[in-house]
Amino acid sequence: MKPKLINSIEEMSVIRKQLKGKIGFVPTMGFLHEGHLSLVKEAKKKTDVVIVSIFVNPTQFSANEDLSTYPRNIERDIELLTNLEVDYIFFPTNEQMYPDDFKTWVNVDKITQVLCGKSRPTHFRGVTTIVAKLINIIDPDLIFMGEKDFQQLVVLKQMIKDLNFRTDIVGCSIVREKDGLALSSRNKYLSSSGRKKALCLNKSLLLAQKLYNEGLTSSNEIISQMTNLIENNECIIDYIEVFDPKTLEHIPELVGGCRIALAVIVENTRLIDNIKIV
Ligand code: PAF
Repeated sequence: MKPKLINSIEEMSVIRKQLKGKIGFVPTMGFLHEGHLSLVKEAKKKTDVVIVSIFVNPTQFSANEDLSTYPRNIERDIELLTNLEVDYIFFPTNEQMYPDDFKTWVNVDKITQVLCGKSRPTHFRGVTTIVAKLINIIDPDLIFMGEKDFQQLVVLKQMIKDLNFRTDIVGCSIVREKDGLALSSRNKYLSSSGRKKALCLNKSLLLAQKLYNEGLTSSNEIISQMTNLIENNECIIDYIEVFDPKTLEHIPELVGGCRIALAVIVENTRLIDNIKIV
């Protein structure tokens, strides 16, 4: 059956009140790929009713970022979600989510200023604000999100805890192409040679795991070898960081369970990826 398409907040709230069972929610900005679809599949397994939102949230882009060119294809998204038998697709308009007199922001301190927050200082404020609004409208039991945006996951879990929302986030594994490139809507911006260069993100993370397996634990030394690999592929590093997955604080020595995340500019596209060191 085709999912019911809902583009008004009011209608979504009315329908939500009538829903029974466990509600699973997958927030997205559309232009869906297998990564998003894996979240939907997980939601279908764990909940009774699945709602997917599609909203390119302007407040998480800064003025010099790609809001106007962000890829969109709502017809294809609907088709993919129909194939997965999603129950509802919520795609509100900008005017509804951010009316002219909009004044309230949700801001998580400290953990939004590190990693991606250093070069995107207002990004997470946009993410937390829109997700808080979506939680209020959809009132989900479980939210399904990918670990590719690992910092986003940690920030949103903190928000949910701090604001006593009655929901929880299920973090789902990164989905990769066969050659290791993490799926991202932004991969679409890459030329075929850029696409090849972009493999250096995953390759450098695998190198870190290999070095750790061989006994190297110094974060500086590992970051330096990752840097060489990435720069040899003509890509520009925004950051590479080794950190504690709970606090996001830098750790000087790798230990099992720590994360390494990176953001790299390939051609003009900023891509992110991360790995759990085991
Ligand atoms: O991860 C995303 O696609 C977005 O940041 C989200 C969570 C849908 C909020 O706009």
